[in-house]
Amino acid sequence: MPADLILAFDTASDTIALAIGRRQTNGETVLIASDDHVASRQANVQLMPSIEALFASNGLSKDNIACVVVGLGPGSFTGVRIGVATAKGIARGLGVPLYGVSTLESVAWGAWNAGIRGAVGVVADAMRGEVYPARYKLDDAGAQRLDAHTVAKADAVAADWSAAGTPLLLIGDGLKKFASVFDSDEHKGDKETDEPSPCVHFVLGDETLWTPGGAGLLLSFTAACARNEQGNGDAATLLPIYTRLSDAEENERKRFAAGGQLAQGALVDVPLSGVADPAKRTSVTYRPMAEADLEQVCALEDEAFGTVAGTAASVAGEKWTRGMFVDDLARKDRSWWVAYVGDLLLGFAGAWVVDGGLQILDVAVAPSHRRRGIARELLQLLMQDGVDLGATEMSLEVRKSNAAAQALYASLGLTHEGLRPKYYTPLDGSTQREDALIMSGLLSPLSPVILAIETSCDETAAAVIAGEGQLLSNVVASQIDFHARFGGVVPEIASRKHTEAIVGVIDAALEEAKLSSWQALDAIAVTYAPGLIGALVVGVAFAKGLAWAAGLPLIRVNHLEGHIYANKLVKEDAEKIETPSEEESPTSCQQHSSQVEQKTTGASAVKPPFVIALLSGGHTMLVHVRAWGDYVILGQTLDDAVGEAFDKVAKALGLGYPGGPIISKLAEQGNPKAIDFPRALLHSHDYSFSLSGLKTAVITSIKREQERGITLNLPDIAASFQQAVIDVQVAKALTALEETGCSTFCLGGGVAANKALRTAYAAKMEAKGYRVIFPPTLACTDNAAMIALVAQDRFIKGLFAKLDDDAHAHTNLEDIY
Ligand code: KG4
Ligand code: ZN
Repeated sequence: MPADLILAFDTASDTIALAIGRRQTNGETVLIASDDHVASRQANVQLMPSIEALFASNGLSKDNIACVVVGLGPGSFTGVRIGVATAKGIARGLGVPLYGVSTLESVAWGAWNAGIRGAVGVVADAMRGEVYPARYKLDDAGAQRLDAHTVAKADAVAADWSAAGTPLLLIGDGLKKFASVFDSDEHKGDKETDEPSPCVHFVLGDETLWTPGGAGLLLSFTAACARNEQGNGDAATLLPIYTRLSDAEENERKRFAAGGQLAQGALVDVPLSGVADPAKRTSVTYRPMAEADLEQVCALEDEAFGTVAGTAASVAGEKWTRGMFVDDLARKDRSWWVAYVGDLLLGFAGAWVVDGGLQILDVAVAPSHRRRGIARELLQLLMQDGVDLGATEMSLEVRKSNAAAQALYASLGLTHEGLRPKYYTPLDGSTQREDALIMSGLLSPLSPVILAIETSCDETAAAVIAGEGQLLSNVVASQIDFHARFGGVVPEIASRKHTEAIVGVIDAALEEAKLSSWQALDAIAVTYAPGLIGALVVGVAFAKGLAWAAGLPLIRVNHLEGHIYANKLVKEDAEKIETPSEEESPTSCQQHSSQVEQKTTGASAVKPPFVIALLSGGHTMLVHVRAWGDYVILGQTLDDAVGEAFDKVAKALGLGYPGGPIISKLAEQGNPKAIDFPRALLHSHDYSFSLSGLKTAVITSIKREQERGITLNLPDIAASFQQAVIDVQVAKALTALEETGCSTFCLGGGVAANKALRTAYAAKMEAKGYRVIFPPTLACTDNAAMIALVAQDRFIKGLFAKLDDDAHAHTNLEDIY
């Protein structure tokens, strides 16, 4: 079956518009199936199940999708982002192009498809008394747009179009609210004289034509292709059509217009966020070797054998011949895999299960494609087969001079076992046979390889994890620069930036992990709660589309559980309290990769039970971790979170955002005893916290000093504020350790990066014989590595998500999910 299907959908309105079309050789598209239905605020819940159902009910396979088409809006901001993020996930998962069409235009084409001809005005609902208006000319040739995309008050549009004099047939979901605005007498001629209207400018079209439909999307796309305006198909760069800024930006512009000032430390430009368009990745496919592969397999064996980095392993140190391959393929205790890009063989590997052991027979990768993780993937496929065939250990031979291969085997857990002298045929140009190293190791069921995605707040992050908590990559694109000038995270901006950055971040994470195909992964994981709902939705929609397209299970993860698991990054033999000289928090829209961990392999140092303080911009709580996945919240803040208090104090001092790193830096030079700020609830005999009083006390004291004309001693204020926070946190954490009987204390969340706080916990707790484990500084602020760690456990427990799962702003950490 050729891949000639077009999947098209739009969620910019209350309706899910969905269609599957087939591209004909003459450039035309025929509609095969469609499903347009109302799904108010349910787009993220219903879209993927609807897509899956439409393919199933028509006996079609997603593997035959040639491209994806998505409605870009204008429309509901969240609705548009759900559509675009899902489409990006599907296109990326299938490795097919993604195109966007205007939602308004697809509505016009829907009317055209229903036989409407003449002048049509589309008015889509833009909320807040506004509409997205656009006029179209519909004739037999098609629908032609006459206006640019814009947003305007409904009455202004009515007046404008009425003044233009051309009678219009009106359609669009804006009419649900504004039909009367267009239908008013004003635009209908003079009623008082009881004369028939001299000119009726507006006629309301049939309501079935008001919302986008799958057929209209396909027609709109076909027309764009005919004009050669369909775009470049790159999922990384496709963006929604918004037509207006976020409220925060609108207000800022109004302030500028009124001669207002920028907040301190602000940026004037609005640069594009995200990651530079990464090079397109070619997709490698892996499958069991068949006789049809042998021509290329033998050619590669011939080319590689006898070179240092050539075929590794290899039975008896001799070159494999076609006859040997044919014999082997017929045997049940053998496993052979090949890797291809298109029709080109890139590598192959084979193994034999004998006496409970997996003996690797041969591994070869084309010189042009070495160091891309292909050998690792081939070996892991063999290892998986080995486990399935009952093997519990594995071994192989490798040329003594082939250091690269030895490093790869070591990373898979194999160690040097012995030597086979003069095992290999001589290298080119040598007459000496070469020694082989024997490497071996235990073969345990493989830990899942997982790609995790995190978009709950203002970091777009992705990480790949394998083995026992072994990070293969960890990429964070921070948006801090875009929020800094507003003194805090602006949810609408965060959601937009996630939609822009997500594909680039995912690609960077896969690239760094050297994963060349989705088959190398066992699952996709995503943060689904708690956090900014509009931000979470982008990650969840993308992950669902990606998981479905790549044929991988989906795992949803609670963000706070991620902060708890970040402590797992501390490995047994690397245990030490990290107190870096320079506190680092990502401050620009750069990726920082793999900085989270110095040592990523080996057993984790932390084991429940323990007590953890979760301190971030949104949370402040003490949690008793009885087991992984079993949490009791001992207490939490009654008002502001600790990070929020740092941010608000910094804002009051005009120091910028985020406040945590700025305040803690200042505090280093200040006297923590200079000002006696309140220690709220220090003696409350429970685990509640309150920070709003402290914040107010700091702000009042600043104002008082300013009124008295005293120059502010910023370092003293910062140090005294920080000390007030620390005293309460440390005291209550100590009580929690005593009362729960736990001997270990951990930290999580952005505030856990605070050096003074870490030092205070360590000093007080170690003095009483408790063990403290703090995550690496960069794993404290939001990242996807911690999400991946949770996902590994959920994978092993078989806790998978469904395609109708949604994001949630709030969840209770204690709830099992
Ligand atoms: O965990 P996180 O990255 O995001 C949330 O889930 O909230 O935490 C961000 C918070 C911000 O409020 C930031 O000011 C604070 O963590 N933070 C710090 C430090 N670094 C970041 N607070 C105190 N000291 C720091 N060094
Ligand atoms: Zn967080």
